[in-house]
Amino acid sequence: MDVGGHLAWGVRDTFLDYVTAIEDHRIEVDGARFDSDGGQFVFPLGDAVTGPHESVVRASGGVTFWGHEGALDLTIADPTVVLNDDGATLQVKAAGTELVVARLLGRPPAVQHGSPWHWSGVEVALTAQGADLWGGVYGPWARMAPLDLVVPAWTQPTAGQRAALSPG
Ligand code: HEM
Repeated sequence: MDVGGHLAWGVRDTFLDYVTAIEDHRIEVDGARFDSDGGQFVFPLGDAVTGPHESVVRASGGVTFWGHEGALDLTIADPTVVLNDDGATLQVKAAGTELVVARLLGRPPAVQHGSPWHWSGVEVALTAQGADLWGGVYGPWARMAPLDLVVPAWTQPTAGQRAALSPG
């Protein structure tokens, strides 16, 4: 469901430069778009749900980076930001699974049910899983492109979501 709002992320400038310089490269978006002005992939928001212990912003769509006759074939999809007392993380679907690829640094603005919320220029640092996903070329804590989140309105979790949002 597209509720308006988006998650926008440029991944990493040097990575985009690298891929676009590969002779047979392809960069393909599916359900997302590339905003060439901002240099960001823009993923439409699925939902933004806030609960007592955790808030989750789910976006949809994916981008594939392909080259070297398919030796490089990296798709990241359905980026999701999870905010809780431990901070904020970015998860993506990649390599057939859900990975926590990065930590979002800095302090997110307070989240309030029913209110719009913007968190822009958020610093993104890879986790060990994220470092693996990019072939081990960047280390954990490597800085990626900043990320922007635009949430028109948060909703409260339904019963099923409530269980998923309250891990403890
Ligand atoms: C046949 C396979 C591959 C070849 C020949 C290859 C070759 C290269 C070369 C020559 C560079 C240095 C580019 C430069 O500094 O200008 C590079 C960088 C890089 N490669 Fe590959 N690569 C291959 C596969 C992969 C795979 C599977 C990944 C996994 C995602 C990957 C991720 C990267 C990354 C992240 C960089 C660093 C880009 C940056 O400067 O930020 N490569 N590769």
